Order: sequence, then structure tokens, then C-alpha cells
Amino acid sequence: MSHRLAVLVSGTGRHLENLAELSRDPAADLDAEIGVVISNRPGVGALDRAARFELRAEVLEGAEAESDETYGRRVFEVIRDAEADTVVLAGFLKKLWIPEDFAGRVINIHPSLLPAFGGKGYYGMRVHRAVLERGCQVTGCTVHLVDDVYDNGPILHQRWCEVHPGDSAEALAARVFEEELLALPEALRRFWRR
Ligand code: GRF
Repeated sequence: MSHRLAVLVSGTGRHLENLAELSRDPAADLDAEIGVVISNRPGVGALDRAARFELRAEVLEGAEAESDETYGRRVFEVIRDAEADTVVLAGFLKKLWIPEDFAGRVINIHPSLLPAFGGKGYYGMRVHRAVLERGCQVTGCTVHLVDDVYDNGPILHQRWCEVHPGDSAEALAARVFEEELLALPEALRRFWRR
């Protein structure tokens, strides 16, 4: 059965582009199409990428002025309207309230080996800086189901990579991101097989 994704973004949208490319490549074996892209911020790179792939894109601003639930209800109205069955948070920097009918169908990718270096405050370069400060020799990324606690839901998939001596946070982020690009589609294939 083919799946329809809602991809939620706040930033550059490299994962969005990767998913858009894979979903159009029969050899990639990702049985999915992107039904809608939702950004909580206007003017972000992810929206340019959505336009390039001619994807439906919606900007839903104003989350700061609303309760999580009120904002979440607006988001899921759009998701239902797009008839998406699976929601991917691909760099979506906002806590998402999830209605009952979508519980267990919202997936996030996080740039560390959870449960290490997760939770509130651990996002973007802060994660990689913390990994370096701890002196870790390996790190990686995690794809997990989203529940109502940050970075807490059941883990679907992880990939790891080495931390090299003298790595900057940026160099480490780039190495982890290579794994992320593989991990997210791998996780979706596995999730949909079950
Ligand atoms: C990724 O590093 C992901 O792990 C994190 O946000 C970043 C998204 O990057 N949740 P992009 O917007 O897809 O380029």
C-alpha cells in the first residue's frame, strides 16, 4: 500500500528534499508520496525546496500565541485534509501536540543516539557540542515515534558513526547527517512493514 506523508519543517529542509527525491525514484523502494509540507516559519529554505518539487506547502504561524493543543489541532486539520497517514518531523523545532487518531504515526529524527543527548535544549549544534564535550568516540542518529515528551517515544532505528579526534561540532554534524539521510528512509520502510 502506498503511503502519504506529511513532512513538518522549520529550517533548511535537507530531509524533505531527500524524501521527495526517494519517493520519486522507483529504485529507492520507498512506497510513499509527500501529501503536504507544513512549516511553522515563513521564508525557510524547506519551503523553497517544497516549491522546487511542486509539493503542497502550508505555513502555520502563531504557535507562540496558542496552547500546544490549539496549534496542534490546526496542524492536524491540514494533515487530515491532505489525507496523510504518516507524519515526519524533519527538523520541526516546535513541540507537537498529537491527537489520538495519529498516536503512533508521528516520527521524528534526532541527531544523537537516544536516550543520550536528547530532551529539551538538545537540538541542532548543541547536541554535537555536548557529544564532543563528553569525549564520546561514537555518536549517531535516532528515528523514533513521537509521544508527548521530548525525544522520548519508542526507537524505530539508529545509525552510528565515529567521532574523530579534533572534530568541530560542524564536522561532526555533517558526518552524522550522512547517517541521518540513510536512517530516515530505512526507518520508514521498517515502520510500514510491520
Ligand atoms: C536534522 O539534523 C535532524 O536530525 C534535526 O533537524 C535537522 C533537520 O535538518 N531534527 P533539515 O531541515 O532537514 O536540513
